[in-house]
Amino acid sequence: MSVLNICTYPDPVLKQKAVPVEKIDESLKGLIEDMLDTMYQAPGIGLAANQVGKPVRLIVFDVTPKDQPRNPRVLINPEIVCSEGSQSHEEGCLSVPDFYTEVKRCSKVTVRGLDAQGQPVEVEGEGLLAVVLQHEIDHLDGFLMLDRISALKRALYKKRRQKQLKSQDETG
Ligand code: NI
Repeated sequence: MSVLNICTYPDPVLKQKAVPVEKIDESLKGLIEDMLDTMYQAPGIGLAANQVGKPVRLIVFDVTPKDQPRNPRVLINPEIVCSEGSQSHEEGCLSVPDFYTEVKRCSKVTVRGLDAQGQPVEVEGEGLLAVVLQHEIDHLDGFLMLDRISALKRALYKKRRQKQLKSQDETG
């Protein structure tokens, strides 16, 4: 098990549409363990495989409050089969450093996919879980939360991020 490097905006891998997982082998199981380690260490409540440079359809998440035992969840080839309502929730993203903003999404979703053993599962989520599922599945389709906000907010973030990257370059 190891903590992986998280790709950040504007890394092109984040724009890539992830391909379906074909078989659940030892290397995929290793990736799942590493992604969970990476998510908990960050810390974050969700992570998509393309955020660690592997453009395959795999997400991990855990929305359990911090004072409760961990409940690591895995979805392979997740698909939103039902969505309803709308909600606005403040989001952040491990791939979009130093940025938190309200994003409008569906309030309830049903997602189908496979668990880490390859068994079909259905996850129904409301509130925060619905937000995380939509946010992570967006990653698999090459979308960031930046693609779900106003053009003005997006432009301001891009400008700030470019400055940040430039000053990192200059300081080595
Ligand atoms: Ni994210």
